[in-house]
Amino acid sequence: MTFTSPTPKMIATKDGAIGWMIFNNPDRLNAVSLEMWQAVPEIVADFEADPNIRVIVLSGAGGKAFVAGADISQFGESRSSAEGIRTYEDATEVAFEGIANATKPTIAMIDGYCIGGGLGIALSCDMRLASEGSTFGIPAAKLGLAYGAGGTGRLVHLVGPSFAKEIFFTARRFTTGEALAMGLVNRVTSHEALENLTRDTCATIAENAPLTVATAKQVVDEFTRAPGNFDSEKCEALIARCFASDDYKEGRAAFMEKRKPAFKGK
Ligand code: COA
Repeated sequence: MTFTSPTPKMIATKDGAIGWMIFNNPDRLNAVSLEMWQAVPEIVADFEADPNIRVIVLSGAGGKAFVAGADISQFGESRSSAEGIRTYEDATEVAFEGIANATKPTIAMIDGYCIGGGLGIALSCDMRLASEGSTFGIPAAKLGLAYGAGGTGRLVHLVGPSFAKEIFFTARRFTTGEALAMGLVNRVTSHEALENLTRDTCATIAENAPLTVATAKQVVDEFTRAPGNFDSEKCEALIARCFASDDYKEGRAAFMEKRKPAFKGK
């Protein structure tokens, strides 16, 4: 079965039981552009349909980053008008959900920067394996934008509300050691050993009974669903207020101009 990725910035390759999805925008530390977000669910769907694929691994090209977030250079053009923001948010949510709803196990192999939407991608996976020098963080508060409710929920389920708030409030970068201590990553090894650890983990999973693995995945996920009284309208309104703010314009301008933003809370 052959599959051609819709963009060269997303590589989809199959190697035995592993389907590799590689974010390939190394000049921008694999920052994810709109067409890359849109390619994610297509690649997942192809791996899902191939019975030879037993585990899906997500990684970044270039040796410096897993993914350094959404591509901020595109925000002015595709994430500024109300309609553009909606289209963009939908594409990211479809990508996150596409990964999270895969029936096959998904592993994020994190070697380098795992920031913002990059951490969101890793959070959508079932497991996270990381190299020692990697860094983690959600700099949304440095940009004046709001993180999606789905990704926020996945973070809370993983590290608990207190660490989740520390990650959002400080918007700072966390070391792999800190990530391991809060349960953000499953296992840590050296940069050199990371791919072997990932392949060994995949081989172990691929030898096990697929229905048991798939059942465990779905039953665990049922336990982490948001409760019925989750106020999604309230969350969406708060998120929209951030995207409509002057601070969001200031945040993305400051990033592009490589200066500190001056936020006013408006
Ligand atoms: N969007 C667009 N471009 C990005 C990017 C992003 N999310 N992350 C990195 N890049 C680009 C940089 O602008 C830079 O481009 P340039 O060479 O044309 O100047 C290039 O990738 C290399 O990044 P640089 O900042 O020089 O590397 P660094 O090692 O000094 O710092 C980071 C790495 C990840 C700390 C820094 O790039 C960063 O803060 N990126 C933004 C992360 C972010 O806010 N993500 C959330 C988006 S929602």
